[in-house]
This record gives sequence, C-alpha cells and structure tokens, in this order.
Amino acid sequence: MKILVTGGAGYIASHTNVLLLERGYEVVAVDNLSNSCEESIKRVEELTGKKIAFYQGDCRDEELMTKIFQEHKIDAVIHFAGLKAVGESCRIPLKYYDNNMNSNMVLVKVMEKFGCKRLVFSSSATVYGVPKKLPLTEDSPLSVTNPYGATKLLGEQFFGDISRSDPDWHVMLLRYFNPVGAHESGRIGEDPAGIPNNLMPYVSQVAVGKLKCLSVYGNDYPTKDGTGVRDYIHVVDLAEAHLAALQHIDEHQIGIYNVGTGVGYSVLDMVKAFGKACGHEIAYRIAERRSGDVAECYACCDKAKKELGFVAKKNLDDMCRDLWRWQSENPNGYHA
Ligand code: NAD
Ligand code: UD1
Repeated sequence: MKILVTGGAGYIASHTNVLLLERGYEVVAVDNLSNSCEESIKRVEELTGKKIAFYQGDCRDEELMTKIFQEHKIDAVIHFAGLKAVGESCRIPLKYYDNNMNSNMVLVKVMEKFGCKRLVFSSSATVYGVPKKLPLTEDSPLSVTNPYGATKLLGEQFFGDISRSDPDWHVMLLRYFNPVGAHESGRIGEDPAGIPNNLMPYVSQVAVGKLKCLSVYGNDYPTKDGTGVRDYIHVVDLAEAHLAALQHIDEHQIGIYNVGTGVGYSVLDMVKAFGKACGHEIAYRIAERRSGDVAECYACCDKAKKELGFVAKKNLDDMCRDLWRWQSENPNGYHA
C-alpha cells in the first residue's frame, strides 16, 4: 500500500513514517518545511533502510498535489500538514485559516480527481474546548477557544461532510492529546523553532542548558498539586494509532477517536519525572496562569481500544527517557 503523508517531515509524521516503512507500506511525503527540515526524512530513511519519495512543497499547491497523484498510485492519505501554534494563531488568524483550511480543500479536490478516498486527519483534543466532564469521550461537547482550534473543528466538519456525501469516502479523525517523547533511537524527535511553547520541549531545553528556568503557568488550579493536568502520550504510541486507523479505515465511513493514555499528569509530575530521566533537577518558578489554559484534560480511550484495538503502551518514564536521549544527543535538533 502506498501512503501519502502530508507534513511528512514534521514531528508526528516522522515517527509515523518509521512505522509505515517498517511494516511494508510505501511512503510518499510532501512538506513545505515551514516547521521542519529535510534532515528528518533522511534520518527516517537511515533508521529503516527504506526510501521516501519526498516532495518539498505546499499542500495548497494544486499543481504540485496533482503531480504527486499522477506520479504515484496513492491508496490513502495521512494528513498531518498544518500550523499548530495557538498563540500565533491568535495574532495572525488569517495565516492559520489559509494554511489549514485551504490545505484540506485542495487535498480533497485532488484526492477526488484521482479516486483516492481514504484519509486520516490530525485533529486535536483542542476541539473539546473547556472540558465540562472528565474523562473526555468522543461525544463530549465541542467548542472553539482559539483560531488554531477553529481550524481543527472546521476540518473535522469539512471531512465529515465529504465522507457523508459519498459512501466511497472513509475518513478517520484522530484527536490527539499531548504527544511527547521521541523515537528510542534518539535519531528523530521534536525540533521546535525558537523558544518552545509546549511544556516538554521547554523542560528538555532547560535540562540541556539551552534555557535557564521553566515557568510553571499557575499553581492554583483545582488539581492535586495546583498545576495543570494533561494526558501525555508517547509519540511512538501516537504513531501506532495511525497504523491502527489505516488498518480499520474501510470499516468506517467516518471514525472519530481520542488518542491518549487516559492518565492525567500535572506539570510538576512531568518536571519530576524528567529530572529523574536526565539525572538532575529541573529549575522552575511559579508564574501566572497562561491565558486559554484549562485545569485538566484527559481522554477516555475506550473507543479506540474497542474499534481499533489501540492502547498506548509506553509510560511516563519511557516518554522522559526517550525525550532526554533525543535532546541530549541533538541539543540543536536537526541543525548540527
Ligand atoms: P509539525 O509542525 O512538526 O508538523 C507539521 C508539518 O506540516 C511541518 O513539517 C510543516 O512544515 C508542515 N506543513 C504545515 N503547513 C503545510 C502546508 N501548507 N503544506 C505542506 N506542509 C505543511 O507538527 P506535529 O506536532 O507533527 O503536528 C502534526 C499535526 O498534528 C498538525 O496538524 C497538528 O496541528 C496536529 N496536532 C499536533 C499536536 C501536538 O501537540 N504536536 C496535538 C494535536 C494535533
Ligand atoms: C497546547 C495548546 C493546544 C494544542 C497543544 C499541542 C494552548 C492553550 N493549548 O496544549 O491547543 O493542541 O498544545 O500543540 O496553547 N506549561 C507550563 N509552562 C510552559 C509550558 C506549558 O507550565 O512553559 C503547562 C501548561 O500550562 C499546561 C501544560 O504545561 O498545563 C501543558 O502545556 P502544553 O504543552 O503547552 O500543552 P497544552 O496547553 O495542553
């Protein structure tokens, strides 16, 4: 089977590409490298001993997307390409709507033209907005709290409408919780541009000495230690969920799944666990709450277990150990 992976040089895509190649899929990847570099593609090829047909370009470029489908008989698409920084999406909403929505539309247009109607879409727990009840099940109320989240919710609606319009379409919407960690080889991992927005990349850069001190955003939430609680999932487990989704895609016209572990850890749990993995304490200070944050967010994972046979296998120590290996062996990410 030949899979087109959009955003194929990115963090989650690179880990998914490893598993796809290891399990005998052929991978075609397209990425405009706006938040990644080609080195991740090369490292995936090194790790697996297999080639990726890589196209540098934009998913909104209909001519390029058509060329890719002309040159390859694509069986299914995993659509990772997207911008994901919440803060930036509030400052420059047009950039997010343009990139994330137009990519979806051009992709579907070209897929329809070539009769390729299987798609796995990267959605996010952000579509639940402020949770009213935990754990979050797939039928929990949905809402939008920022432009990035709006593009994910609209994306879900768009792909849902497409799949309902034609029984040949099969769409899987995966709502990721908080992906962390790296491949256990230490060769691929998350390589954020500039100062990281997300917790674990920040913590690992403090550990390696690139940043001085973590700001913990609030210690007065109604949680066990006052800091925010999230459902962190190892990126290799998350990658596995995509393979499970592909295997079950023909059974569903539209399948919606939470992808998490079902376990919530606080910011201080994460700081402590990472300190253990790297062998020294992580410097932190308590700061103001970050606007837009919720106290707690974690998944009910029963549906993915029942329908996809997917269960996350790696624990918090695995996440921290693998992230530390990646960060310490590649202090500047993919840039030597
Ligand atoms: P990432 O930035 O590492 O990967 C996204 C890739 O898409 C990047 O390589 C980027 O260069 C590329 N890209 C963006 N716009 C493009 C376009 N128009 N054409 C071609 N390439 C384009 O991010 P990631 O963490 O691997 O996330 C992958 C997907 O999962 C994104 O859609 C993101 O919104 C979603 N997601 C991520 C998280 C998370 O915490 N990392 C959580 C929920 C959902
Ligand atoms: C964030 C986004 C979410 C997006 C996800 C993946 C916001 C409000 N939410 O989720 O929409 O889907 O990333 O890209 O940006 N924290 C600190 N100090 C830091 C960084 C984070 O204390 O320097 C805390 C946060 O307050 C939170 C937890 O760590 O309690 C996790 O934060 P983060 O990694 O940014 O993920 P989310 O906020 O869950």
